[in-house]
Amino acid sequence: MRHLNALVDLSTTDIEEIFALAKRMKTGVAKGIRPQLMPGRVLTQIFEKPSLRTRLSFDAAMMQLGGSSIFLSAKDAGIGGREAVQDVARVIGGYSDVIALRTFSQQLIDDFVQYAGVPVINGLSDDRHPCQALTDLFTMQEVFGSIAGKKFVFVGDGNNVATSLATCCSMLGVEFVLCAPEEYRLGADFLDRVKSYLPKIHITETSNFAEALKDAAVIYTDVWTSMGQEAEAEARQQVFQPFQVNENLLKLAPASARFMHCLPAKRGKEVTDEIIDGPQSIVFQQAENRMHLAKALILWVLEVNA
Ligand code: CP
Ligand code: NVA
Repeated sequence: MRHLNALVDLSTTDIEEIFALAKRMKTGVAKGIRPQLMPGRVLTQIFEKPSLRTRLSFDAAMMQLGGSSIFLSAKDAGIGGREAVQDVARVIGGYSDVIALRTFSQQLIDDFVQYAGVPVINGLSDDRHPCQALTDLFTMQEVFGSIAGKKFVFVGDGNNVATSLATCCSMLGVEFVLCAPEEYRLGADFLDRVKSYLPKIHITETSNFAEALKDAAVIYTDVWTSMGQEAEAEARQQVFQPFQVNENLLKLAPASARFMHCLPAKRGKEVTDEIIDGPQSIVFQQAENRMHLAKALILWVLEVNA
């Protein structure tokens, strides 16, 4: 059975297949074509954290494909409180063709993979955001054509989005650079794990802006305080302030570089208005692409030809 839990579960060929599906779906929507490939099928989404893009893109994707989508908060689902996780997972799996989850602990998604009996999609955990990373590399490919050998620079926290992007870049031959304070890097455990899965990784870490941004194709950032880290917000604000993506920082990169952000953004914190609204920004192309990727992922995990 196919899941999208960790990117390393996919092969590069799987990613290429998912990108091709997303492209077909996007071209179709532009022509007013919405193939009804999921009639009678049900997606159930259970989220422990807020979401605009992930939740709605999966809802819209499933509805445009002719299927239905159900949303439950983790509290309403009773996970861990009212019922044991494995029981909830089995019951939901009995009603659903596919499940998308957003959680704090990665273990909760792993448990669903083990017990639900249907494909499970990781819609973000504290550790990973694979749907976002796939969308971002797909978007990069749309903009640049061929992406192998290009340089992708993530400025800011080595968080869940950064780890998934680092992994996805390595799988697609894109050079990933994390420009971050030393105490907020990807971590030896993560790097050892990726190395054990992938034959070749292209990941470096630095605090030197000029070195990081030289020859960059993409400059990416995300919030300094992720969901669940609110108590650390003030301390993080101090440490990350010099890592703001603003005009001065962007000057260190070629004029052809594009600015990306998974959103939601804290304008005036990790990125200034001039940059997010500026000519190099492709953040809303990324956001729209979440839906095309969501369709592709639903079709791919369910092994539906499209
Ligand atoms: N980028 C992203 O996952 O956005 P949401 O938190 O709104 O789903
Ligand atoms: N790193 C952010 C991503 C939100 C899409 C978070 O986890 O809150």
